[in-house]
Order: sequence, then C-alpha cells, then structure tokens
Amino acid sequence: MGDNRLELRHLDIAADDAVVIRGVDLTIEPGTLHVLLGPNGSGKSSLLAGIMGLPPFHAVGGDIVYRGERINDLPIDARARLGLGMAFQRPPALDDVTVEDFVTALDAQKTYDAAAPSLDFDGFRDRSLNAGFSGGETKRWEVLKLALQEPQCLLFDEPESGVDLEHVAAVGKAVDQLVRTPSASGEARSGLVITHTGFILDYIKADMGHLMVDGHLVYSGPARDLFKHIQHDGYTAPAA
Ligand SMILES: Nc1ncnc2c1ncn2[C@@H]1O[C@H](COP(=O)(O)OP(=O)(O)OP(=O)(O)O)[C@@H](O)[C@H]1O
Ligand SMILES: [Mg+2]
Repeated sequence: MGDNRLELRHLDIAADDAVVIRGVDLTIEPGTLHVLLGPNGSGKSSLLAGIMGLPPFHAVGGDIVYRGERINDLPIDARARLGLGMAFQRPPALDDVTVEDFVTALDAQKTYDAAAPSLDFDGFRDRSLNAGFSGGETKRWEVLKLALQEPQCLLFDEPESGVDLEHVAAVGKAVDQLVRTPSASGEARSGLVITHTGFILDYIKADMGHLMVDGHLVYSGPARDLFKHIQHDGYTAPAA
C-alpha cells in the first residue's frame, strides 16, 4: 500500500447522468492541508462525494488515485478502509443509531472522551445521530466523527458554516489538529477543507487554496491571498 497521497487526474464526476465536475487535476500530499473555495453550485461537494464514492456521485473520466491505487470503482467502505474520510455539508439523521452506539462500534471511547469537551459535545451520548441536532451541533459532530474514525486523508465540507463565532474557533482548531496529528503508525495525515466564510482560515494553516467555478478548478495558489481576492473581486481567477 502506497503512502497517504491523493491524486486526482483529469477527473470528471457525474451525479447520476449529469456531469458536474470536469477535468480536475489536484494532488494532496501527505502532511498538507488544502482549502477549496467556489460559488454555490460550482461542484465542491460533488468533488468530495465523488472522491468518497458516495451515490449518486461517481467518476466518469480520469483517475482517483489513493495510496498508488486507482480507486474509481471501489465501494465507499473500501475507500474508507484505505484512509479516506469525509465530514458532510448536510449529514443525514440516523434515528436508531446513538452517539454511544457509534463510539462503541469504533471502540473509540478514549478518543471520544479526549475530543468531545473541546468541541462542546458532552451530554450527547444518548442522542440519535444528527436527529434534532442544531445546525452548529451537526457540524461539531461531523468533526468529532472524523476524530473517532481516524482517517488519514480528511475531507471537510464547510465545517464552520452555521457555527457560531465562539464555536468556529473550536471547530477550526479541531480540524487543524486532526490533520496535523500523525496516525499511531507515524504516517502524516492530510486534508481538504471547503469554506465560504473563510473564518476557518484563522485557525488552520492552509498550504494551498483552490478555486472551483462551474465544475472546473480554475486557480490554485496561497489560500489567504485567494480568499482576499474573492472578497474583493468575486469568484474570478487571480491574474497569474
Ligand atoms: N443528482 C443530481 N443531478 C443533477 N445535478 C445535480 C445532482 N446533484 C447535484 N447536482 C448539481 O451539481 C452542481 C454542483 O453541486 P454541489 O452541491 O457540488 O455544489 P457546491 O459547490 O457544493 O455548492 P454549495 O456552495 O451551495 O454547497 C449543482 O448545479 C447541483 O444542482
Ligand atoms: Mg456544497
């Protein structure tokens, strides 16, 4: 098994029959944290769902290569076992699965006890996953969920959207810590974070920013500079 490198090569992704991502080239090296920006409907969530293999999203051209293996046709659980994990923009509610069930299934009690307080997630053990969670609680659970799953390449879809200003700091720090902490075997993790607000940039050390427009990656460069450019000039690619 190769190292924790994710390579997207000329990747096209469709939702059912509709092609929504075209020709994306992107490499996420071990130990790096990338940020993805772009207007509503540009394809950011579709890209993450396509990488994970989450129906109805699937690769229809190009390659998704993870750990040196072409994973275009692997089922979602096989991709997760290789080390990919995703915090959803809008996770589904699971009425019959409690936080306690999830923690027990992953044998992740210690991690839960260590990570839950910093995400203000005490007192949720008996709650069903995402059922009746507030918007901010849902987002904090998604980050905590990834802490429990311990993936190597972490994909975050708008982890701070709808999160109040005090909790944004907790979410941002947790995201950075998750990505920056090597696994038990000493392997460097990596991450890709979608953000609209840019708040999270105050808490994470982003190595690279990418701009997606209309299903294409149109620019890659320093994340902060890209965010400032978008604030002033909208979702246009900065001049080279
Ligand atoms: N099942 C589907 N069939 C057809 N088109 C779809 C389907 N699912 C998503 N799309 C379209 O794909 C495009 C990209 O959607 P996506 O959710 O990836 O955007 P996004 O960049 O994450 O937007 P936002 O910032 O609002 O979250 C949108 O135009 C959306 O309507
Ligand atoms: Mg989205």
